[in-house]
Amino acid sequence: MRIINTATPHAFASAAADWTGDHLHDKPQSVLALPTGNTPLGLYSELIARKLAGTLNLDEAKVFNLDEYCGLGQSNPHSYAAFMQRHLIVPARLGADRVRLLRGDATDLEAECHDYDAAVADCGGIDLCVLGLGVNGHIAFNEPGSSWDLRTHVVHLSHATRAAHERQAQLPWQIPTWGVTMGIKTVLESRHVLLLIAGSHKETARAAVFGGVADSDWPVTSLLAHPSVTIIELCSPAENR
Ligand code: GLP
Repeated sequence: MRIINTATPHAFASAAADWTGDHLHDKPQSVLALPTGNTPLGLYSELIARKLAGTLNLDEAKVFNLDEYCGLGQSNPHSYAAFMQRHLIVPARLGADRVRLLRGDATDLEAECHDYDAAVADCGGIDLCVLGLGVNGHIAFNEPGSSWDLRTHVVHLSHATRAAHERQAQLPWQIPTWGVTMGIKTVLESRHVLLLIAGSHKETARAAVFGGVADSDWPVTSLLAHPSVTIIELCSPAENR
């Protein structure tokens, strides 16, 4: 595991964009799995700026997202698909043919999960999987105690996850009880993984992965078995830990 400590939000975002850019330089046709949340926002701004400046080639990459709320489609502004459109896909001018987002509003979610897995497989699997970290140690929507042997599947969202997102939503909005997520099996099959950690409220989950013991109560510790994981942390003591 490679660990990169950064001291400012700008350095954090730059380091994540450098990691992504280096891999895209080596393989412009990389298949990316990307997260939502506050943590990757700086990375996305940096990728957009570099792409528009002509220093990053994102046009040959293929983008998948990691998770979605059940019942929400791209037209719902609370959906993760809308988040990805707003914060990356539209401003970076990524072609629709290069993007596959989970359809939380699919009438048959099981079929949607199979279709998603098939789309990932058709692209040859994920090259670069970028992950945020949930307060309870979840990655994507793989909650504590969930199987590490699943690809895309429907999940029951924990109270901790829903509470964290209700606080973040800034609108009176009830977080759905169910989500759909890329599974840990797919994450572990990715060629390279980047875990982004920022925020003092993530300290316990962070300690779990740095503790070095795989524990299904802390899904992030599944990454300990992966041969190519980079962790980029935002370590400013004043505001982040
Ligand atoms: C959600 C998402 C995760 C994300 C996590 C952390 O639960 N399903 O993919 O990593 O939130 O979000 P944030 O970066 O806002 O702390």
